[in-house]
Amino acid sequence: MIKKPLSLVKKATKYVPGASYYTAGQNLPTLPEFILHRGNGAYVYTTENEKMLDVTLAHSSLILGHNHPAVSNAVKNQIDKGSAFTNITEPAIELSEIMSKTIPCAEKIRLVNSGTEASILATRIVRAYTGKNLILKFEGAYHGFADNLLFNTNYGNSNNWDNYPSPTPDSIGIPKSLKNDILIAPYNDLSKTKSIILNNKANIAGIIIEPVMRGLETNKSFIEGIKNISINENIPLIFDEVITGYRLSLGGAQEFFGVTPDIAIYGKALGAGYPIGAITGNKKIMNLLNPQSSDENRIFSIGSFHSNPISSTAALMCIKELQNPENYIKLNEFGDNLRSGLSQIFSEYKIPHFMTGAGSIVEFFFTSNTVSNYRDTLKTNLNLKSLLSNQLPKNFIVGGGGRYTSSIFHEEKELSWLLEGISNSLKEIKASGELEKSFEKNQNSLASATKMG
Ligand SMILES: Cc1ncc(COP(=O)(O)O)c(C=O)c1O
Repeated sequence: MIKKPLSLVKKATKYVPGASYYTAGQNLPTLPEFILHRGNGAYVYTTENEKMLDVTLAHSSLILGHNHPAVSNAVKNQIDKGSAFTNITEPAIELSEIMSKTIPCAEKIRLVNSGTEASILATRIVRAYTGKNLILKFEGAYHGFADNLLFNTNYGNSNNWDNYPSPTPDSIGIPKSLKNDILIAPYNDLSKTKSIILNNKANIAGIIIEPVMRGLETNKSFIEGIKNISINENIPLIFDEVITGYRLSLGGAQEFFGVTPDIAIYGKALGAGYPIGAITGNKKIMNLLNPQSSDENRIFSIGSFHSNPISSTAALMCIKELQNPENYIKLNEFGDNLRSGLSQIFSEYKIPHFMTGAGSIVEFFFTSNTVSNYRDTLKTNLNLKSLLSNQLPKNFIVGGGGRYTSSIFHEEKELSWLLEGISNSLKEIKASGELEKSFEKNQNSLASATKMG
């Protein structure tokens, strides 16, 4: 059983709202059961020195695991030289070169601090480029916490949602007027998406899509279809590669699916655990970020820590390490083995399930049906999924909300640790009688999920 660091939790409760650093979605965190103190490879250690397997990896950022020696040493070296400068730095330039060589759409790169910042810039760029206003996003997709795209994400309360293409903000505090700037379309549904685009094409500035939406697998034909519409209608296509970038392959989802967008945004795995974001794209569009462009062909963009040498150094080392193709074989094999191992365990417990995700992004839903968009996920047994997530720390696993990912340090031993922990968790849930109950409760939530239309 995990030991609770009582005095730290008490202090956190006093000084930090809810003792948490996030307030996102419906399944809000309770008071912490443990506080993490250090990490190494695939494992983290609590302040009470208990060892846990990490399959969340800082929201899927730590593709090289915790404290990778090549990254940590390079960062320590850079710290000795300085941590921030007002001018562009050598590591940022080297990083931009290697990104351009590895990402198909990346002729030019602007480095920022997070995925959210990158998505803010991406939408500003396409609006400036096209002179139009509407951004089309997909229902259930998350592109960061900024006002302009926090509509109908997986964190939202779908009971309040209007039907697409009409958007609903996911937080109070978002100006109501921003509703006029967003359209919502169903993921993996090309014909509905196409008709929404065609009905609004005169005003659409850009389409933003997660090539793997949260953990949901994308039909290749859907992604290709969206690309064709974007070409035919002359609407810039933005890939949000904040999760998929450097995770699915060195060239991200673009390389994985063989579809090149006009713009792609990056974060997470790029920085190997250091704060970074990037916006990449073809020369013509990215010229809007060129300070030498004329006033009418230039957008505003500056940040005190943009092109930061510490994060750039970490990212540079990360990509160099990932250039060894064996790493992707390992990452993708772990994902495939995890999907099949989980499926076997769920079958042993006679739980209907649908496995999805791509490469080392592993997702599953408890249902007998196919899950291909956000509404489908709401019709699955989410109660059981959250019971399982809550049980994982007791089995020494940091498993977050139930989408698992891995690093280059996740191998056979880690797979067994995780599968054993899942199996034990289900055993405990079944013994408590909650497994059967979760399917009954699910009937009620299903009724509200279908209210969206
Ligand atoms: C697909 C996607 N885009 C953007 C973001 C925002 O990135 P950040 O948390 O670095 O601001 C996230 C974060 O979860 C994400 O998953």
